[in-house]
Amino acid sequence: MATARGQFSSRLGFVLAAAGSAIGLGNLVAFPVMASKNGGGVFLFVYLLFVALICFPVLLAEIAMGRNTQRNPVGAFSALSGGHRGWRLAGKLAILTPFMIAVFYTIVTVWILIYLMRSLSGGLDTLADPATFEQVVGSPTLFIPFVFLQIILFTILLGGVKGGIERMARVLMPTLAVMLIGLILFVMTLENAGLGIRYYLVPDFSQLDGGVINGALNQAFFSLSLGMGILITYGSYFSRKDRIVESGKMVAIADTSIAFLAGLLILPAIFAFDPGTDPDDLSTSSVGLIFTYLPQIFLSMQDVVGYFGASVAASVFFALVLFAAMTSMVSILEIPISYMIDEWDFSRRKAVLTQAGLVSLFSVGAALSFGMSSFFTDFIPYGGGSRSFFDLIADTFSEVILPLVGFLVCTFCAWRWRQAGFTGELSVGHESFRGSWTDRYINFSLRTFVPVVLLFVFINSVAEKYFAVNLLAVFGL
Ligand code: PHE
Repeated sequence: MATARGQFSSRLGFVLAAAGSAIGLGNLVAFPVMASKNGGGVFLFVYLLFVALICFPVLLAEIAMGRNTQRNPVGAFSALSGGHRGWRLAGKLAILTPFMIAVFYTIVTVWILIYLMRSLSGGLDTLADPATFEQVVGSPTLFIPFVFLQIILFTILLGGVKGGIERMARVLMPTLAVMLIGLILFVMTLENAGLGIRYYLVPDFSQLDGGVINGALNQAFFSLSLGMGILITYGSYFSRKDRIVESGKMVAIADTSIAFLAGLLILPAIFAFDPGTDPDDLSTSSVGLIFTYLPQIFLSMQDVVGYFGASVAASVFFALVLFAAMTSMVSILEIPISYMIDEWDFSRRKAVLTQAGLVSLFSVGAALSFGMSSFFTDFIPYGGGSRSFFDLIADTFSEVILPLVGFLVCTFCAWRWRQAGFTGELSVGHESFRGSWTDRYINFSLRTFVPVVLLFVFINSVAEKYFAVNLLAVFGL
């Protein structure tokens, strides 16, 4: 069972580790895609609202559960409910989810690695060609970087060089932010970029519909690493001398800022490179969007810095994105590993190797989902079309399941653990919290509208994803 736990040495240690987990492909790849296909400004508006009003209380609830019990998600639900079977099951869902996320996340990380290698070897111009993405994802040569990445990731997890990664993150994450800002400034100088800025920053509320609401909430959960046991686990390493509320705020702000910047880079780039873009055409955007526009941004720099300079800039950027993806991967993979160690008494080595075997197996199926195998590409029909194995896992575990786990976490805190326990934990190391406005808001929201919204989005996501039915249509949304 639970072994002696390490602790983050400082508040900054927690914030950096949690931000390192939270900031990843969700911010840099998924957010701009979601924003562009869901009406731009209106998506950003709803997203920010959800982060502040819905996600933040859930984020605190997860950290508090972890710190109070000093356990993994299953252990945490179990300890706080007196070993209740049903609640343990909720904890298990919070173990299965990061495992499944790791499966498709691995594949997108491999794509980034391929883009890095290509821009390093002088192929930036080919990357900017929209046809390249299809080729890259459908080619068996993808398995070379795939194996390479798996070896690196699992060696990190085995060898415990995680401390080194966290130290690197202190330098590389701020570098990523600075580079994003530099790129945004560059894109702003391009003709027509202004149209993209307007599309992104000025909400058009006539675009508000069920898709925007589901999409924004699911994206916010994914990006903040909520509903997947990560913050429960990180909370278990959180010092009792520090303030959960303030650290949580810093993590949420860091994560949201990076997502915001990624949107501010990509959306104007779309309008700059495709001057005739009609916002309505963007509703079918997919991940390929990022993989085409990013290289185009860099390629267009060649007038200023030459092809070599542009390739260097692209390589540095892809390397930073890869690093952000890898810190997230390490944190996702750690959840099932620490579960196996805590609850099944596995040695670390055995847990890491079991996890490596399972994730690789599933990821191969996900990699084959882009045309290499028709079995995995046309895996299952739902939501009005044929879907791949990758789609099934990504739709289910990055969207549908997250609000469900969020719902379970907040009903658990509000009705089972109760206000006394929950507020008590949040006030440890932070006496002035008790009775403050934040305390009142969090307790009120977790008992009232947060679970209602989460349950509703869960049901609506199931209806929309699997049955192509939008339940919000009755409200005209
Ligand atoms: N939140 C990370 C991102 O936005 C992804 C992630 C998912 C990290 C699951 C950890 C666990 O990319």
